[in-house]
Amino acid sequence: MHFKIRAAAKEDCREISRMIKELAVFEKMSDQVKISHEELERDGFCQNPFFECLVTEVPEQNKSEEGFTLVGYALYFYTYSTWMGRSVYLEDLYVMPEFRGNGIGKGLMSKVAEVGKKKQCVRLQLSVLDWNTPARDFYATKGAQDLTASEGWHFIRFDGQSLDDLVNEAPKD
Ligand SMILES: CC(C)(COP(=O)(O)OP(=O)(O)OC[C@H]1O[C@@H](n2cnc3c(N)ncnc32)[C@H](O)[C@@H]1OP(=O)(O)O)[C@@H](O)C(=O)NCCC(=O)NCCS
Repeated sequence: MHFKIRAAAKEDCREISRMIKELAVFEKMSDQVKISHEELERDGFCQNPFFECLVTEVPEQNKSEEGFTLVGYALYFYTYSTWMGRSVYLEDLYVMPEFRGNGIGKGLMSKVAEVGKKKQCVRLQLSVLDWNTPARDFYATKGAQDLTASEGWHFIRFDGQSLDDLVNEAPKD
């Protein structure tokens, strides 16, 4: 199948938002998506963007059943390892079901790796749900290590009240 991977434009945010929701449905956590396409526009297309995004576009004649030509995306940002230096974190990788198995997911992930390498990133990291064995197998076949299995890392989050509590406990200047 013919497809093109390109950097997302601000005008793509509605479509990216649509695919973020599709991915959340797949991940059985659709109620957790609070972000709007306006927030994506604000955060990804400002002077110091919080994320970068690649999208996969197919020609009109290959559009989805519902008429979409953007059929996949990879959203990523940069992090820093105090052991290894510059790293890229792949927050979302998604291909619409009817377009899977055509090399789009691999293409998106390779492009993110390429973008990161050009910025001297030495790592590409991501998280995957325990039950998502197709994606875990996909990463494994591409040579990724599972750090939870090999090193025992846990994924920790503060948000809502626990985040507010931390802020309130911050020492005053
Ligand atoms: C995971 C996902 C992005 C893969 O995209 P895709 O376009 O279907 O994958 P590709 O066609 O690029 O496959 C690339 C390679 O991975 C292999 N692969 C794909 N799915 C696989 C699986 N379930 N198990 C093992 N290998 C797999 C393919 O055989 C192919 O191998 P090759 O390079 O040797 O030919 C896609 O299935 C998806 O969006 N899944 C739902 C959302 C999701 O799980 N996202 C990841 C969340 S962390």
